[in-house]
Amino acid sequence: MDELRRAARIAADVTADHLAGVGDRPVWQPVPEPDHAWLTRQELPVAGRPLVDLVHDVRTRILPYPMGNGHPRFFGWVNSAPSPAGVLVAPLAAALNPSCAGGEHAGVLLEHTVLRWLAGLVGYPHRPGGGLLTSGASMATVVALAAARQRAADRVGVDVRADGLYGLAPLVMYVSAEGHSCLRKAAELLGLGNRQVRVVPVDDRFRMDVGALRGLVDRDARAGLRPFCVAATAGTVNTGAVDPLDAVADVAAEHRMWFHVDGAYGALGALAGGAAAGYAGLARADSLALDPHKWLGVPVDSGCVLWRDPALTRATFSLVPAYLRDERDGGLGWFSEYGPEQTRPFRALRTWATMSHLGRDGIVRLVGTTVRRAHTLAAMITAAADFELLAPAGASIVAFRYRPTGQDDHLDALNQRIPGAVQRRGRAFLTGTRLAGAEALRACLLNPATTDDDLALLLDEIRAAATGDTSPTPP
Ligand SMILES: Cc1ncc(COP(=O)(O)O)c(C=O)c1O
Repeated sequence: MDELRRAARIAADVTADHLAGVGDRPVWQPVPEPDHAWLTRQELPVAGRPLVDLVHDVRTRILPYPMGNGHPRFFGWVNSAPSPAGVLVAPLAAALNPSCAGGEHAGVLLEHTVLRWLAGLVGYPHRPGGGLLTSGASMATVVALAAARQRAADRVGVDVRADGLYGLAPLVMYVSAEGHSCLRKAAELLGLGNRQVRVVPVDDRFRMDVGALRGLVDRDARAGLRPFCVAATAGTVNTGAVDPLDAVADVAAEHRMWFHVDGAYGALGALAGGAAAGYAGLARADSLALDPHKWLGVPVDSGCVLWRDPALTRATFSLVPAYLRDERDGGLGWFSEYGPEQTRPFRALRTWATMSHLGRDGIVRLVGTTVRRAHTLAAMITAAADFELLAPAGASIVAFRYRPTGQDDHLDALNQRIPGAVQRRGRAFLTGTRLAGAEALRACLLNPATTDDDLALLLDEIRAAATGDTSPTPP
């Protein structure tokens, strides 16, 4: 163990130095040869190498080429900087290396607490067996919709686990035009077919149009199809919009549909001052996806799904071979009975550490700070003559576009080009999207270290990138 101790001490310093220096380095940079070749084409060494050499390789060949999401001027997708507490405990989870499939050990017991904490944060009803930590929201969605499918089949006496979808009228699911692609992927994976995923139009604030939802559900029911699930979003990926959850829940209840809420990114937005009313109805969901690896900053592979009916989800997945039977679980069964994974990593430790370190107050501060910063950016964009805000700032996302005078004829081409050009300059990282049929830029603010100066710099970087200047600039 002396070799590990020595290498781990060096690794601890490398980790802390890396995190302390993030803001002084390019947000992102291309990987030059020979490091590119080393990363992609190295051969498995014949003789094993000492641990300290591996730490050296990580420091010199890996840490210089991040995705960028640790940096205060990373505004892309929905990827946060890692929480220090999460970074701290990740190696400790690996040192224990349990499978959190089930059994009585710390990893499993702590997962129950973390699930209860996450539900409590957003006011979602929770009882033991009411959730699962997952790799991310994509897997959370598969688990949730599998339970929804199970319930729909049970109601008409079809055993979907035995017979699949044979004997069932097509099950139809409703997702807004701004719903995340993981919803459609889950429908495909579950054999529902994406032709049975209805795309509900959105209103002028990019929220699900509930009148249109009603119209679609009525039409499908009249046609002999089976509307079985509506998936609303609390914090869409394009604009951070929160669907009218209460009204969607009403439609779900009237038609006995499963009500899923994708709060993977935005559920925590309910904690921002004055925001809670906009989330009314979230607690009525049959299932809720909520990713600790997004706004909370828990290192990735930290998703979560919560549900109202533990027995139903267990009935959806439980399949316990004799060699895995265990009576020591207080009647709840194993976590592996509530989802597709058997061997499961110790995900709870990173989320527990992050939430404990921040405390509830710290989490509320984190959300409030980033939401306020998003509103500051939206105000800067509104005030600038060469930018245009495309949506109200929702949760902590701002959707906008660059619109210099005299270039209206090729705004789409210009805005499509900008994210890559900004990224190559290395001082900020931005991604784009399509919104209401137009190319858009979007900035997602998750890092409390981002300052107003960083926001001003982002806008200047966009202006510079738009002129075609893509040369990397010193940080
Ligand atoms: C609203 C929303 N839902 C679902 C997902 C998918 O989450 P994951 O990448 O953790 O699978 C994302 C990812 O950004 C998201 O923003």
